[in-house]
This record gives sequence, C-alpha cells and structure tokens, in this order.
Amino acid sequence: MKHTDIRAVFQDKALIKTEVTVCGWVRTARNSKNVAFAELNDGTTLKHLQIVIDKEKLSDFDEALKLGTALRVTGEVVESAQNGVEINAAKIDILGECPAEYPLQKKRHTLEYLRTMPHLRGRTNTFNAVFRVRSVAAAAIHSYFQSRNYVYVNTPLITGSDCEGAGEMFQVTTIGYNTEYKNEADYYANDFFGKRAGLSVSGQLEGEVAAMAWGKIYTFGPSFRAENSNTPRHVAEFWHCEPEIAFAELPDVIEIAEDMIKTVIREILDKCQSEMQFFDKHFENGLIARLEELISHDFGVCTYTEAIELLKKADVKFNYPVEWGCDLQTEHERYISETVFKKAVFVTDYPKEIKSFYMKQNADGKTVAAVDLLVPGVGEIIGGSEREASYDKLVAEMKRRGMNLDLYSDYLDLRRFGSVPHGGFGLGFERLIMYVTGISNIRDVILYPRTVGSIR
Ligand code: 4AD
Repeated sequence: MKHTDIRAVFQDKALIKTEVTVCGWVRTARNSKNVAFAELNDGTTLKHLQIVIDKEKLSDFDEALKLGTALRVTGEVVESAQNGVEINAAKIDILGECPAEYPLQKKRHTLEYLRTMPHLRGRTNTFNAVFRVRSVAAAAIHSYFQSRNYVYVNTPLITGSDCEGAGEMFQVTTIGYNTEYKNEADYYANDFFGKRAGLSVSGQLEGEVAAMAWGKIYTFGPSFRAENSNTPRHVAEFWHCEPEIAFAELPDVIEIAEDMIKTVIREILDKCQSEMQFFDKHFENGLIARLEELISHDFGVCTYTEAIELLKKADVKFNYPVEWGCDLQTEHERYISETVFKKAVFVTDYPKEIKSFYMKQNADGKTVAAVDLLVPGVGEIIGGSEREASYDKLVAEMKRRGMNLDLYSDYLDLRRFGSVPHGGFGLGFERLIMYVTGISNIRDVILYPRTVGSIR
C-alpha cells in the first residue's frame, strides 16, 4: 500500500506543502463546530500526526473519529505552530473499524492493566518506545560483535545436556501422560530423541565448541529456565547474548563485557533520543544523565569476598542473612551497586559451591573465576566466567558433583584436543532493556512474557 511513514512526515521538511498519504490508528479525536481533528499514529514514531478535517469539504467522517480505527488519509502537509506539521485531509478511507469496547482509551493505563492485553499494548507510547529501544539494542549488539570479527553462532535450543548442571530445564517430549513404561529409562528410550531432552538454559557449552574453532563467537537467541521464580526480573523464556572467546582470561572477559555494554548504551542514546526522553520523563527522572554518567566512567570491580565484607558492615537490615558462601540476593546486589559503588560493578571470584561446574578453579581451592555484572535498579544483568581448561580438574569437579560424564563427552573433548584458556559471559537481554529504559518489571520489556503459571 503506497503511503508515507508518519516519522518521515515529521522529519522531511521537503514534504511541506505537498500531498501525502499516511496510514495509522486513531489515538485521540476531537469534534468542534467547523472542523474535526484526529491524531494518527502508525508506530513509526512516538509523535501523533494531527489530521484536520474541514467539515464543509468532507462528510461521513464520524467513523474516522473513533479511537483505534485504522485510517488511510490523503492530504496536504501544512506547518502548524503547535504540532510542527499536520495534514489537511482531502480523502479519508477507513481501513479497519474499531468499536467502542476497544480497551485502549485516551487516558494513561497502568502497566499492570496493559499486561492483560499483550496483543494490544504495543499500540501505546510506552510499548512503542520499549520495543524500538529493544530493536536498536539488538542491532547494536550484533554490530558490536560483527565489527570486531566475532562469528554469530546459532546454538541448539533443544539439548540433551543441562548447561548449568542444575535441574531447571523444561522437558521436551512427544509422549504425553502414559503409564505403560517400565521405568523412567524405558520412557526416555521411547521418546522422540531416544533420550531425555530439554530446552536449553544457555548456549554456552556449544558456544565453547564454536570458540574452540573460530576463536571469537557470540550467540543471541532465547534461553529457557523452568525455575519457579515469580519475580520482576525472571521470565521462563528470555533472550540471551553469549559471547565466548578463546585465548582469554577473566580480566579479558570483564573488559569485553564493559566495552560492549557501554557501546550498546551509547548507540541507544544516540539513535533513540525521543524514546529515551520519554522514559526520562515518565519512568525515571534523570535516566539519560545516569546512563551518560555510566558510560563515561570505569565500572567498579570487587571480589565476592570483598562484597561480603561490605554487606556485613552495611547499616541495613537485609531479609537474607549474609555469610561467606551465601548466594547474593537481589537486595545484596542492589546494595553493592546502588549504595556502595553507585554505579555498575563487576563482582568476581565466587565460592565454587554456588557456581557452575565449568568455571576455572582458583588456586585458593575455594573460589572460581566467575564474574557477575550488577547494575543499580536491576541487579545482575551479566553472568560469566573464565572456563576450566584443564581436563583433569574439570573431570574431578564433575565427579565431585555426581554429574554423568557421558552426557558431556563433546565438552570434555575440547579439553583433550588443544585446550586453551577461554571464557565468556551471558547478557540477559531483557535485563539490559529494563536497565536502559527504567522499566522495573521484566514482563513489560518482552512481547509475550512467559512466567510461572502464565502463558498465552
Ligand atoms: O548467570 P546465568 O545463568 O549464566 C549463564 O547462563 C552462563 N551460561 C552465561 C555464560 O557464561 N555464557 O545467566 C546469564 C544472564 C543473567 O545474568 C541474567 O541477566 C539472565 O541471563 N537471566 C535471566 N533473565 C531473565 N529471566 C531469567 N529467568 C534469567 N536467568 C538468567
């Protein structure tokens, strides 16, 4: 359908005094004595384009003033002191009628209310801005890695191993409820793959396979977690960017993570100015200044052991007790980044018992070369590590954890055939979007959130 984007009508001064055709949905409408006005939005910009309807020239426009109605309007672009430009309508076609029960009315709806209609909420300014930022951020991540010669790898979503070694996988099966199998092994043997399979919690293990061949790689796709975490930061299906780098140690991993985050945020600030101004105004005053500040300074770095000391000294009553060896909870992560460092901070060298089997074992015998990036307001957005490159050490740790080595034979081969120091990290894409938009619930930065007890 030939038409001009509303974004272009606002931006392209050459269109003034010419006739254009625009399409969009009616966001607001007003009817006065001689003229009527409809504000049209086509999703290409946050701005609504005012359509001026001269009642003497056009009749039968009542339907065109109903909220949510889809229109095609042809008319002259004219300058307007109030709106920059508007259109004097010469012809209006109704593309799709919209009855009065349309749930998006003129007033500002709460995010909770909008969550009940994921199929319509994209038509609000908030979700228009969120999803444009999300799109620009995704492109920025790709361009960051592509311009540095990383290979983009699509790792499998259905997997026979559980990367993190923890039982948080969704099972993939073609066999429904059934009592005819002798035992669990018999059941899996008869299933589609002839063995137990699940949705991948991370592409890392296969990412390591790729990095051991092509040096620098990244993945960017969905990961699935069946953990029962009904929090504002967890979804069961999230988008995960996982670079993996050969010939790299923990400090290299940290340097890449910091540079990538800063570069991506810079690009969002540059390319999404009106969206970021919108978030600054409606969601977090001072957001843009905070992000500018973030990218112009070094991120903080402290070890887990130092973080525990800081938390113990804190003049705050935490819900979860702090002891060396405990997992850091969101309240702890936020205290470290918001109150102590007042900026993004890498926490390194966690106790091995609370981290995954594959992390490089430190010389102290107690900690591993892990790193999490904590940011104010959100907590952890990145988790990564240097990987254990020694076959013997890795096997010993897997045995200590009672893992089935047969499931990891490919992974172990990487340590047998030319093993090298390597590492990488996983960025939770939705967590990044929460951080840059100031939106505090992960359900509001993904098209269709999947959470415990909720799917549509
Ligand atoms: O810390 P995680 O579990 O690390 C891994 O999966 C590693 N294999 C990554 C690697 O080294 N390649 O997850 C990485 C990030 C977290 O920091 C968080 O941002 C995000 O993934 N994440 C989630 N985001 C939304 N909902 C969930 N349920 C998430 N679980 C993890």
